[in-house]
Amino acid sequence: MVNECIDALLNCERGSGRIRHKKYSNNDKEGEQEEQVPSTSTSSPLIFVDGTLGGGGHSAALLQTLKGGDIVFGCDIDPNALNEASKRLSYYTNHDGIDRPLFVPVQSNFGNLATKLPTILHPITQKLILSKGVDGILLDLGVSSHQIDVPERGFSFMRDGPLDMRMGSASGTNNDSDDTSSVSDVGGLKAADICNEFDEKELQRIFSVYGDEPKSKTVAKAIVKNRPLYTTGELVDAIGSVIPQFAKNKRHGRTATCARVFQSLRIVVNNEDGVLSQVLSDVCPTLLIPGGRLVVMSYHSMEDRATKRIMRDGSLEKIRNGRQRINNDEKDLYGNYNGPSKPFKPLSKRRKATEEETSRNPRARSAILRVAERLEDF
Ligand SMILES: C[S@@+](CC[C@H](N)C(=O)[O-])C[C@H]1O[C@@H](n2cnc3c(N)ncnc32)[C@H](O)[C@@H]1O
Repeated sequence: MVNECIDALLNCERGSGRIRHKKYSNNDKEGEQEEQVPSTSTSSPLIFVDGTLGGGGHSAALLQTLKGGDIVFGCDIDPNALNEASKRLSYYTNHDGIDRPLFVPVQSNFGNLATKLPTILHPITQKLILSKGVDGILLDLGVSSHQIDVPERGFSFMRDGPLDMRMGSASGTNNDSDDTSSVSDVGGLKAADICNEFDEKELQRIFSVYGDEPKSKTVAKAIVKNRPLYTTGELVDAIGSVIPQFAKNKRHGRTATCARVFQSLRIVVNNEDGVLSQVLSDVCPTLLIPGGRLVVMSYHSMEDRATKRIMRDGSLEKIRNGRQRINNDEKDLYGNYNGPSKPFKPLSKRRKATEEETSRNPRARSAILRVAERLEDF
């Protein structure tokens, strides 16, 4: 789905003349060997935000497609991810940006980007980069395989490690961030704190709401009975004490249950629903220019529901009977909607990974891609 994300970003109003001239390649510098296709609609530079830089795969593909003068801000809350991706993309950093696009790494929670990006200086000219808005924002939500693969981070139920799960901590240690704006980059709460301190009812709610866990009550009870829990292995054992390893319905087996429980703990530790609301309803409408693209890849129902509602209705509020509830003060004389204008127009139906994509990248199995365009009169 990498190519589709990049195509969706590049079809922004100002970038529509830019033709994708090469397929994504693992060679990040390959773009320099390709003939750059000049823009037919405009020569003004394009600015994009990769809000979830991770291993830098999407940013690399985007940079390969852009030309001199264009800029990609690559943001991640995780300093490890930022360092690794910056090394990978070093060909695009710290240069004048004339002969090739510029990559600018930003360590931040994406919930803070509306205040953070306007303060960032060009590494060579030392002038503010952002004079207007940005042409596209990409959010590839959740954790990366790099984070899952490090046992000390505590994200994986397959590897024993401390019950941590904080995305903003490098290899499980706290880091100092210079980001003083509203959303905390490194939360104090760890998964162990939730397992050991939250009451049974709250644990049940967390597993049910953020994991769609059918056995939320049983699992919550087992955790309370077996605590204190300090490691991922201890949590897996607690779950295993009440959930059979195999079940007729795979969804009720231990692996699927562990996946849902770990996912819900991660969401709470990192305040993922709060930050997602903020980035979708505040940061993206603020930063995107009219005609700019918002491209979101989500991996579970909470993320996709929020994305769909913001793109379609401009609000995170629940829709009843397919219609948005309209307050009386948002109706005109004839009862028609006359409230605040919506920030986005959805551009396509949601898109899921094909079988071929899933076989190449198993994580894509649950991926849902949505694209929207920022409207003019918001
Ligand atoms: C699925 S990975 C992105 C993978 C990336 N697209 C690539 O091509 O390698 C998600 C990344 O987003 C980061 N992330 C998650 N929540 C974040 C937030 N609130 N602010 C900034 N980064 C966040 C994670 O640390 C992780 O590195």
